[in-house]
This record gives sequence, structure tokens and C-alpha cells, in this order.
Amino acid sequence: MAWFGLGRRTPAPAPGALGWDFHCHLVPGVDDGARDLDEALQIIDALKAAGYSGAVVTPHIYGGVFDNTAAQLREAFAELQRAVGPGFPLKLAAEYHANDLLFELIARDELLHTDIDGERAVLIEFPYLMEAPRGIDALVALRDCGYRPVLAHIERYRYVQAQPAQWLERLQNIGVLLQCNIGSLEGMYGPGSQQLARKLLAERVPHLWSSDVHRAHQVARYIAPGVRRIAPGGALNPAVGGAAQQMAA
Ligand SMILES: [Fe+2]
Repeated sequence: MAWFGLGRRTPAPAPGALGWDFHCHLVPGVDDGARDLDEALQIIDALKAAGYSGAVVTPHIYGGVFDNTAAQLREAFAELQRAVGPGFPLKLAAEYHANDLLFELIARDELLHTDIDGERAVLIEFPYLMEAPRGIDALVALRDCGYRPVLAHIERYRYVQAQPAQWLERLQNIGVLLQCNIGSLEGMYGPGSQQLARKLLAERVPHLWSSDVHRAHQVARYIAPGVRRIAPGGALNPAVGGAAQQMAA
């Protein structure tokens, strides 16, 4: 590459070099992600081309908005898995919105989770503009029930953008794993998220970088360039990939 003065360019990762994605919306027709099987397969092709070797899929469970149950999602996921085949292993978890339904599911111990470093990790999302009244309580309740809470796309919340240091301290004191969306680095969600994501990357804060992909075009436009910025030629989330690969084997 240096022959043409492009020495600073980062090469695309080899297929499978990145390990597993931890947060994405590939189950067809259950949330605002893939609308049908064709679209799910297109997204998977794009993820493979970007260097991913598998994915933990995380459809929304958001009472009043996406009223999915674990049983319904297991069924839809099994169909997707059959269509995709062994070439791109998948595992089912979910992205839970921090509202009343989540507390009911915690009480019933009915949570879709995935293993990260031997712990039962549960992905939680907060509202974007205003702090969830019981958001922190939900994270504490999960922890106290033996789960490892993972807070989704921490760089996207307006109130975290306003006071990042205070929020990071608060979350880390509870033992929450911090997940950032890769596309934020390239402006996929606007300047506020981009600025915070780049700051967090520079300080090596996030525990997990994930695609949160909903549409195939997002991969080439935002996620693949973000991947090259984070981990040129290397694995993104080795702990997740290893655990998920074992479970899928
Ligand atoms: Fe998501």
C-alpha cells in the first residue's frame, strides 16, 4: 500500500478475524431490524464481508413497543438459524428496555442472556433523551439476581453525553459492562454520539464494541470503517466470541 502513498490506510480485516458481534437485529419481522429473511441474509453477508464470524442476535423486548416473548423469539430465531446454516453461527439473546416489563421478567427469571467470560450477560437499553426513572434500579436488580448487566450504546444517551464521567463512575460501581456502537465512531447517530464514542475509544473505556446493525447498508457505510478504526486486523470482542463459539458448537 505504501507504493501509492497510502501507507496509513488500514487494510480490511480477513473474513472471520473479528470474532462475534454481540448486539444486532437480525431476527426477521420481530422488531425494527431485518424486515424479512432476505434482508437478514443480506445483513449477514455484509457482516461476514466486514470480518465477523458469528453473532449473538439481540431482538428488542420492549413492553408496549415490541411485545416479544422469549418463546416467540426462540421460534423465529430457530427459523433464521435453519436458513443461515452452519456457515455463520448465531446465538439468541435480547435487548431489554429498562421499564416495568423488565422487572417482571427479572422476578420470573425469564431472561434471554449470553455468556461473557462465564457470566450470564443481559443487554439493557435506556431511553435516549431522558433518564429512565428506574433504569439504575434495573441494573442493580439484574446484578443482585446473578446476571452481568450490559448497558447498550452508552454513547447515545443525551444525559450521558452531558455528564460522561459521572455516569461512567456510577455504572462501573454497579459492575455494568459498557457497550458502544461501532457506527457511532463514524457519525451514524449524529455528532453527540460520535464525539463521546471517539473519546471513549481513545480512553479504552468500552468493554464491548458492537454493530447494533438494523439494515445491510449500515455495515459498509459506518460499521466496517468503525471496525478498522478500533481494531485494525484484530479481534473486537474476544471474550464474547470465545464464549459464544463454545455454546454454538
Ligand atoms: Fe439494538
